[in-house]
Amino acid sequence: MNDERDMTGSNQGAATNAMWGGRFADGPSAIMREINASIPFDKALWREDIAASKAHVAMLGAQGIIAAEDAQAISAGLDAVAAEYAANGVPENWDLEDIHMTTEARLAELIGPAAGRLHTARSRNDQVATDFRLWVRTAFDRMDEGLAGLQRALVARAGEHADSIMPGFTHLQTAQPVTLGHHLMAYYEMLRRDRSRLADARARMNECPLGSAALAGTGFPIDRAMTAAALGFDAPTANSLDSVSDRDFALDFLWCCSATALHLSRLAEELILWASQPFGFIRLPDSLSTGSSIMPQKKNPDAAELVRGHSGRVIGSLTSLMITMKGLPLAYSKDMQDDKPPVFEAASLMELAIAAMTGMIAGSTFNTARMRAAAELGYATATDLADWLVRARGIPFREAHHITGSAVKLAESRGVALDQLPLADLQAIDARIDESVYAALSVDASVAARSSYGGTAPDQVRLQVARAREALGMEE
Ligand code: ARG
Repeated sequence: MNDERDMTGSNQGAATNAMWGGRFADGPSAIMREINASIPFDKALWREDIAASKAHVAMLGAQGIIAAEDAQAISAGLDAVAAEYAANGVPENWDLEDIHMTTEARLAELIGPAAGRLHTARSRNDQVATDFRLWVRTAFDRMDEGLAGLQRALVARAGEHADSIMPGFTHLQTAQPVTLGHHLMAYYEMLRRDRSRLADARARMNECPLGSAALAGTGFPIDRAMTAAALGFDAPTANSLDSVSDRDFALDFLWCCSATALHLSRLAEELILWASQPFGFIRLPDSLSTGSSIMPQKKNPDAAELVRGHSGRVIGSLTSLMITMKGLPLAYSKDMQDDKPPVFEAASLMELAIAAMTGMIAGSTFNTARMRAAAELGYATATDLADWLVRARGIPFREAHHITGSAVKLAESRGVALDQLPLADLQAIDARIDESVYAALSVDASVAARSSYGGTAPDQVRLQVARAREALGMEE
């Protein structure tokens, strides 16, 4: 909060803004200065702002729009400003509103009036659109890198546990035995789609808005292909109105973040459940857990809970920007200045969440004996009995399902597992059952039998792990 805030909005004596104040008699009120300033957050764009300005000024020089020596002085001056920012951070002066004017003002202090030529044939509208695209493009790349790391951790653990048996659930009720490797590889697949979404969005957004100027383009003989290439874009954008007012690249980014946040939240939820005492399937690494200040026995899965919790904020950031953009007429409106905080917040939350999840996957200890014991409870191999009746005895599946139901009911009434029922009892339910059924009723036989493509059988898991390792460039 600005202490000098003037609630009346009067502003006697304030100087007019040096950058745009030519037609104003008075300077902005303190309220106006505060509500207008984006420098507190858009200073994060300084690298992109300098890079885009350098590309722009090189083009102005090459096209003869400004003198070569001015272009050179400006470019060197921008390097000097960048060095200052890198060393001391970006100064926050609300009167200079944003990173664009902050940089230009400092440039003028360093090199004098030639600095004023930098803004020829551009506007802050195409400038911010360009800077922000560059920033988001890097964010796409960083997120992709993070996700690849998490995939590697998942695949490594899945390879170790291709044969480890755990209960598979539907409705969180024990359904059929699965392998832990299979379960972990499910998340590998989700992240594979997340990464492909990132790649799509990144390819779509890689066009350069610079040169669209305020909204209509410019009368100066600029070379947009040159600036686009210098900044690593595939091409210049094709419509200046769209270029300065579109933020769907940022929305794409936030949707990608949200989709991944949702996946990580589900995985986090499973880790939290698995780490609870009644499950006891895993021990999370101490480095990513906390203790309780009053209950000495506790080890809490806080990192996983925060990954789950942060997904709400990430999804909120998508909602926030969608609502900001909805209903804005073409072209630029100042509402769009609010595009940055949700993107910055989502990007940093995702970076942390991905890193925390990678650490938890890589560092957890799986209690495979306990998982196996849980898989042996709950009649998880009932489907295998039904399948055996179909396969070995030619009984229609619906009838086999019914026979199996009676066997489960009997086992339940005695408090034993299916394969602990004596043969005579099974035969009393259906005379076609014989000794060979027992081989089908173990959890190992159950998972081994599910060898259809993409199934949970250890061989299938090993196949998918090998493919994933190859896709991720993990050495054999
Ligand atoms: N700080 C502004 C933003 O982030 C830069 C663009 C300002 N343009 C304008 N016409 N006032 O949106």
